[in-house]
Amino acid sequence: MVKVAEGIKGLPKGDTKWFTHDRFGMFIHWGLYAQGARHEWLMHHESIPVEEYERRYFKRFDPDLYNPKVWAKAAANAGMKYFVVTTKHHEGFCLWDSKHTDYKATNTAAGRDLLRPMVEAFREEGIKVGFYYSLIDWHHPQMIIDNKIGPYRGLSAEKIAEMNKGRDQKKYAKYMRDQVTELLTDFGEVDVLWFDFSYPDKENPGDFEKGKGHLAWESEKLYKLVRKLSPNVVVDNRLDLAGAWDIMTPEQFQPREWVTVDGERVVWEACQTFSGSWGYHRSESDWRDSGQLIRTLIDSTSKGGNLLLNVGPTGRGEFDDRALERLSGIGEWMKRHSRSIYGCTEAPAGVVPGNDCRLTYNPETNRLYVHVFAWPYMQLYVDGLGDRVEYAQFLHDASELSVGLDDWRAGQPGSAESKGAGTCVINLPQKKPAVEVPVIELFLK
Ligand code: GLC
Repeated sequence: MVKVAEGIKGLPKGDTKWFTHDRFGMFIHWGLYAQGARHEWLMHHESIPVEEYERRYFKRFDPDLYNPKVWAKAAANAGMKYFVVTTKHHEGFCLWDSKHTDYKATNTAAGRDLLRPMVEAFREEGIKVGFYYSLIDWHHPQMIIDNKIGPYRGLSAEKIAEMNKGRDQKKYAKYMRDQVTELLTDFGEVDVLWFDFSYPDKENPGDFEKGKGHLAWESEKLYKLVRKLSPNVVVDNRLDLAGAWDIMTPEQFQPREWVTVDGERVVWEACQTFSGSWGYHRSESDWRDSGQLIRTLIDSTSKGGNLLLNVGPTGRGEFDDRALERLSGIGEWMKRHSRSIYGCTEAPAGVVPGNDCRLTYNPETNRLYVHVFAWPYMQLYVDGLGDRVEYAQFLHDASELSVGLDDWRAGQPGSAESKGAGTCVINLPQKKPAVEVPVIELFLK
């Protein structure tokens, strides 16, 4: 059974039913860092002080080509069912017209709220809405500066202590609650709230100059507020507070199996990039191709998880060609294969695919999907199925596939026969069909 975290006593839980059905979402990292175009952490990597960062990027932020309808279309065409956008990243800049700060899109050359039209455009495409909200804020004058991350790390302890004079972390925690209140009340129903992230100092969790966790964010208050305003919003696991989450969010690696916490399976979502950086990166060149990304989506689904795939739009407000090319490649595949993703999960216990395959299973329709990552020589084996297959076809063109070995092949040593009656043999054409990852749909008895 899937355990959806303990929850916190007396508080409602997020609604993960749609989430585990939909499987595929778009992450969007967009902020001032798009102009630096060399990673969304550049403020930290290059130790750029607040004033300097503001001077370079804040007033100049002018996404004149921004058309969220184009973004939403690209996501919908790729088969994405929800999106999560950085309303504020670690740099502290806000995409919406927050009452609680001047550091927002309305005060840049953009001169307007950039979040609202995005939410509207994605909703129009039937895509659910998620907000990423950075707990970390390297810009806010009340957040305690620490020596771990941010533009001032590496300064002497004395210097940091001096800079922290007059700062009040409690005021910053209140600011977060005020902003989260805006996000959860001014934009209609929000489906996902994605907090990022905690890094408490293990020995001194209360020392915010050393790190920050639930004490620094006042996570309990924050989480209670979230549950009051939006009882069933899906919350990620980065508040550093036991039970205060609905989903686990492995990042930049694919789990080997269904993610567990304390030995129990949980709802999970891998978040992945095209090339490493989350924000727009001009020069990163080792981009994954759409085939690899499709296989990543399949891999997540086959382990009962989701994929949140990131796009970093440019400072002028566009998805660049590299991103568009990947999204349309994924969309080409999804157009014919989304049936093996939506509503699907891990295969029933004991059903094991042959080499180079991933299985997904739709419990409602009782169909099993074999995703063939590398084309085999004529026969494909699935152990643990026996004679449960009623009918087999390719998913992309609904063309029939025969099941079972002929006597001549079965009689030879090393054939599926040697594995016994549990093995199901599917006969394939010699040549891989012209789709990125062929899928065999098995109708089970
Ligand atoms: C991180 C990074 C970050 C990114 C996020 C996505 O923890 O700080 O830049 O937004 O992961 O998962």
